Amino acid sequence: MLDAFPRIDLLQQPTPLEHMARIGTHTGHQQLWVKRDDCMPLAFGGNKVRSLEFWLGEAMERDCDILVVAGAPASNQCRLTAAAAAKLGLECLVLYAGTDPLPPHSNLLLTGMMGAQIQHLGPVGEEERGRLAKRTVEELTASGRRPYLIGNPVIGGLGYARAAKELHEQAVAGGLSLRHIVLPGSMGVTEAGMLFGAFLLDLPWTFHLISVEYEAIELEARLRSILDGLYRLTGVEAKDDPLSRVRIYTNQLGAGYGVRTEASVQAGHLLAELEALVLEQTYVAKTFAGLLNCVARHDIPSDEAACIVHTGGTPAIFD
Ligand SMILES: Cc1ncc(COP(=O)(O)O)c(C=O)c1O
Repeated sequence: MLDAFPRIDLLQQPTPLEHMARIGTHTGHQQLWVKRDDCMPLAFGGNKVRSLEFWLGEAMERDCDILVVAGAPASNQCRLTAAAAAKLGLECLVLYAGTDPLPPHSNLLLTGMMGAQIQHLGPVGEEERGRLAKRTVEELTASGRRPYLIGNPVIGGLGYARAAKELHEQAVAGGLSLRHIVLPGSMGVTEAGMLFGAFLLDLPWTFHLISVEYEAIELEARLRSILDGLYRLTGVEAKDDPLSRVRIYTNQLGAGYGVRTEASVQAGHLLAELEALVLEQTYVAKTFAGLLNCVARHDIPSDEAACIVHTGGTPAIFD
């Protein structure tokens, strides 16, 4: 069914599914796996590549000639949009919140290196940034260009619906009976997409979302809105409430989005030492800290297999 939606293949092959044997010994849970979405061929990879496959599918189908994306200077989405545009020979306009000169960041450096044009929006919040991005798209259209605005959360969600199938197939091939999925909880695109995929395939997965940005009520609202959009877009009927399979944890938020915690720093060291995994601090280290906490508290029982998705963001480690 997902094949009905236009998609550009940026991944080329499934990302690895790895057993974390040494973390297993450390935690006493021998069935911990990691889906390595940090290992992709496009410019350090990460979860946004899967959404970009569908965003670019739509952009190419509409014969667009310039991609427009808005974000913070640390944005992985902006970096990967610039990368995909470079690969496909499209122009890319990145609208950054902030004023020139922006604070140095590896993602900002890479975005510029890959040839994106950069504009500064001034000190704006998420809502104003979205409004300005829409206005830029209107202005480009009026001047005869064919812009595509990156970021529709429903189209983007299709990427992780597909990832659910990919992970399920890997698990089946490896004789693995997966019961728990651990993901960062943020804007909701990745999470809602994967939930939708698990629902389509009727998989017995419980989702543990480690919030890195919002309180539970806000994250839940975002998930519901994207899921509603996915049902409408695909014409699938919701039989039960997919959120009944979700547990949201806010105990790793600490002082908030982008602020490391003692637990996230410890998780970063532990996973590097025991599994050679590189975890940035905004999304991934907090999520691994959440996994460790879930295992310690038996929210994930030691006889049930669990998989955490490493969503990438790796360049931030160098900042
Ligand atoms: C590395 C990384 N992980 C997780 C997320 C969160 O994904 P989502 O916005 O789909 O919730 C992001 C979003 O920017 C990200 O860059």
